[in-house]
Amino acid sequence: MIIKFNDELTKQEIYANGDELARIMGQDKDEKGKRTYTHAKEKKEHIITFENPILMTDNHKISQLEPAKRDTLFALYGSHTKITEYDGVSLEFEQRKYLGVWGPSIDTMLFCKALKNEDLTNVKTAVEVGFGSGFISKYLLSKAPNLEEMTMIDLNPNTRECAETNIDDKRAKILIGDAQKLLKGKKYDLIVCNPPYIPRPKSIDDNAYEGVGLLHYLIKNAKELLTEKGTLITNISNLCEDIALQTIEESKANMNKLTSLEVPLKVYNVLNNPEWMKYLLEEKGLKQERKNGYDYWQAIEIMKIKTTKEKKKKLNNLEYISTKERDAYIESVKHELNKKDHSGNYFAASIGLVMISGILMFFNPLISMSAAITGISTALLGDRKSTLISKKNEKQMEKTKKELNKLYK
Ligand SMILES: C[S@@+](CC[C@H](N)C(=O)[O-])C[C@H]1O[C@@H](n2cnc3c(N)ncnc32)[C@H](O)[C@@H]1O
Repeated sequence: MIIKFNDELTKQEIYANGDELARIMGQDKDEKGKRTYTHAKEKKEHIITFENPILMTDNHKISQLEPAKRDTLFALYGSHTKITEYDGVSLEFEQRKYLGVWGPSIDTMLFCKALKNEDLTNVKTAVEVGFGSGFISKYLLSKAPNLEEMTMIDLNPNTRECAETNIDDKRAKILIGDAQKLLKGKKYDLIVCNPPYIPRPKSIDDNAYEGVGLLHYLIKNAKELLTEKGTLITNISNLCEDIALQTIEESKANMNKLTSLEVPLKVYNVLNNPEWMKYLLEEKGLKQERKNGYDYWQAIEIMKIKTTKEKKKKLNNLEYISTKERDAYIESVKHELNKKDHSGNYFAASIGLVMISGILMFFNPLISMSAAITGISTALLGDRKSTLISKKNEKQMEKTKKELNKLYK
């Protein structure tokens, strides 16, 4: 099957191809009417286009289709070979052949979408840390115009065969082993990494290979691993945002967000581990909400990290704020708006006072006159205060909107 994404990742087209046309799509006769079981790999038939994909395999969306299409898609997704295509780059992946290798996922596509909008002209040396299937490296090899050497590092030895089958390029250099050892003493213009990003208690301290150890290592050592104007582009999740931000803070680097996407958490080892899930829900901001057929949600974010001496992170001129900071900021703006409501009440209360004084007029004109004067002046002051606050709020809201739009567009 072929899974093809458009540049903006707003469409995911699914095709049956090659032998699947005979096995699944009923094209089981050749031109002479004879039974055939095969077709060229290049021959394909469009099956469906999904809008706004959030997963590579969205079982929920598939299950909503009418039965024949639903079962056709399940049969296609069960096929051994999957070809993923994005922006003219394609990669063939076979899970049973490449054991334990991480095939192209929605994160991989989001990563390439972020790279698509980057100026890669100054990149001569690049490394992909944890290349998995090799899709991102293949993408860089085809898009960075002056790339001379593309180093690819992964712990899993089975990644080599997948990458060698898919990448025929002398500039690609595959290294198998722990990046934390293999990167020592090296410098690159660009480091890309879609690392493991689901935190687990004590993962930084006792295990570098799961949780967020690799991410922590790369941010912490970015300065040593990058050339002077070099860039680290990495994927994080809001689940490990606090760890990434703390490391950024400590290493005095700059981080800004290139793109992001809210996706369901669909890692079975995590979903089926109640202790791990409890930790993510209670301490790491995993969102529980039944929507689009999934219960647990995270935001994946592609971040660009530069190391400079001065860290420029101010709220009004900020490049990146965490979800927690953003929520606190929104709260503070809401608080400002509440003030406006109070002075509105203040105004209404003063009008009330004027009306009461009008009634009192019948009983004691002197008392009611002074009550009326107090009421009118309070109302005028209240109105003035209300106008000032609402003007301030408008400005504040405009500013907030602009900042949030910039961050979350
Ligand atoms: C989430 S997968 C990403 C794969 C691929 N880059 C992609 O985006 O499709 C993370 C990869 O990092 C590799 N990895 C994890 N820790 C590593 C380490 N310390 N050194 C090298 N590779 C590592 C894993 O084997 C896995 O292939």
